[in-house]
Amino acid sequence: MQIFSELQALRQCIAAWRAAGQTIAFVPTMGNLHEGHASLIERARERGDKVVVSIYVNPLQFGLNEDWSKYPRTLEEDCAILRAKGVDALFTPTDAIMYPRGRENQTIVEVPALSNILCGASRPGHFRGVATVVAKLFNLVQPDIAVFGEKDFQQLMVIRQMVADLSVPVEIVGAETKRAEDGLALSSRNGYLTPEERAQAPVIYRALSQCAEALKSGERDFARLEEQANLMIEKVGLKPDYFKIRHGKDLHEPRAGDSYFVILAAAFLGRARLIDNVQVWI
Ligand code: PAF
Repeated sequence: MQIFSELQALRQCIAAWRAAGQTIAFVPTMGNLHEGHASLIERARERGDKVVVSIYVNPLQFGLNEDWSKYPRTLEEDCAILRAKGVDALFTPTDAIMYPRGRENQTIVEVPALSNILCGASRPGHFRGVATVVAKLFNLVQPDIAVFGEKDFQQLMVIRQMVADLSVPVEIVGAETKRAEDGLALSSRNGYLTPEERAQAPVIYRALSQCAEALKSGERDFARLEEQANLMIEKVGLKPDYFKIRHGKDLHEPRAGDSYFVILAAAFLGRARLIDNVQVWI
């Protein structure tokens, strides 16, 4: 695996692959890789001749009171995982490459409508940071395909919207959420949980699954289902941030006649804010 922290060498390598007719599949990450990332890499491998992964803990998507400085940085372990997965190139850009005039002076990408609801309401500016860094990474790496996890469902929608609105020539591929045996969605933030909290955390997926079953069996009192789920999560000791049923295509408020829903949840547990979602087709 070739490792690049400098742009010119990365560009030369990608240009040579492209000249040889090879397609580039890209997996942007913030590192601290786990099985969830491994499955994104597998999807990328299925879709591209060469797989490029980036690791950059993007300061622009963290709020002032959030965990940017404490976010786990585990480059050595990450490299071992990437090598084992047969990744062709790792890009670890510096702040100087990403935000050459400083974060405050950075040109930003704003995806309206989708960015200020759900996670965006609790984390103002978060999706602006995500859209900006992903647009920038796309311009640096210039992939044909990019893979993102469905666990971050709203993020995936924001990126799809950004790519469509700005006519970015990158195909966005969503990869199914990887779960532990007890249903907890794999996430770097699970590492913040104590053993006791780890045992509490799967209630989020249980609540999502219960709500999905209710929708499948015809229940359409969305507010009641959301309230029930919040109570279930609270009872186990988590602090719900939101639990919402939305239309799966655009995150609009759902209507009884809809045939595609997504149920999204976020909850605080100890040092972690956990998110998850389940899609429901009727
Ligand atoms: O999902 C993530 O890890 C990050 O939000 C991303 C897409 C790499 C942008 O920093």
